[in-house]
Amino acid sequence: MAKDPDSLAKDSVKAWLQESDPRELDRLWQQANEARRNNVGNEVWLRGLIEISNHCVRSCAYCGISQCAPATKKYRMGLKAILVAAKQALDFGFGTIVLQAGEDPGLTGPWMAEAVESIKSKTNLAITLSLGERSETDLKLWRQAGADRYLLRFETSDIELYRQIHPNLGRQSDRLAQLDSMRLMGYEIGTGVMIGIPGQTWDSLADDLLLFRQFDVDMIGIGPYLEVSGTPLAGELGSRLKSVSGGGQVPNDDLTTLKAIALARLLCPFANIPATTALATINPNDGRSLGLQRGANVVMPNMTPLEYRVLYQIYPGKAGLHETADISSKKIEGQITSLGRTIGRGPGASRRLLAPIQNPIAKS
Ligand code: 5AD
Repeated sequence: MAKDPDSLAKDSVKAWLQESDPRELDRLWQQANEARRNNVGNEVWLRGLIEISNHCVRSCAYCGISQCAPATKKYRMGLKAILVAAKQALDFGFGTIVLQAGEDPGLTGPWMAEAVESIKSKTNLAITLSLGERSETDLKLWRQAGADRYLLRFETSDIELYRQIHPNLGRQSDRLAQLDSMRLMGYEIGTGVMIGIPGQTWDSLADDLLLFRQFDVDMIGIGPYLEVSGTPLAGELGSRLKSVSGGGQVPNDDLTTLKAIALARLLCPFANIPATTALATINPNDGRSLGLQRGANVVMPNMTPLEYRVLYQIYPGKAGLHETADISSKKIEGQITSLGRTIGRGPGASRRLLAPIQNPIAKS
């Protein structure tokens, strides 16, 4: 296996991703955990997730709320309900809320700007937006209104695969271009990928991880792909893409997700990296704890009111789907303290802004 001793170059990243020797993997976990401790410390930051609308104009072939998924009842939260959830996050001691939705033009630029302003004036929480591909005008407006961060996963660096699973979406470079321009606007930027989408090869996943480093992103979300029945990727398109990638298909399992999280930590030592809900869904017992011990330093407890949460099923069986916000946040806080970690207080801004990127730890 070509594991470059002086860098995490592509061959080395690919070799790590396919490593199966438990002793070797222990070294990876240790290096990632040390890099996490040395660069972002022992705090785990809690970001309260509020899923504000499940309307979406897009047809992403994997997603349970897209146009090509079986229809679900649609909702869009009003400002009052959003404020109640934001206040709850504040009461729980969280420093950040994440407002997430499908790509919903009904959440207009001016309406969202007002919502951001209103939350800021009442809570002073850091605000992360995750609202899909939006115009420069909207993004500027929201930044001026006080939004601090924006999450937009590029999903895959393989342009052809991106095109196949995002019909009528334009080019993959749209999302990368949006990330670039949001950085210039002063947002902290976050991106990410799913592990094991049909058609994803070891080669393209290694490229994805290297792209995180190239973009020097502030936040990286990595979770396993979870099949949604009735979507094109669960059907013929998925089978076709898997057969094209032959033996090179990346599995959508927790082990590969954890390897990708560990490598993301080594490649981007200062990034904020969540132990994602998708990881906790695929491994309900230990997914979140293992993520936190292998590179992650963020958890995003769900604060969406239960009546809406059940309608925001981007994938099935989401962890914590029927738990109230206080129960799931208590449970998560218990997990964090039992690992000997502390709960971060305050906004938990990107450490990348304080220190330049360093060379990742070598693999021999
Ligand atoms: N399985 C796992 N993750 C998914 N996402 C969307 N659909 C799925 C799925 N079926 C992820 C995408 C998106 C994020 C909000 O959720 O990466 O960017």
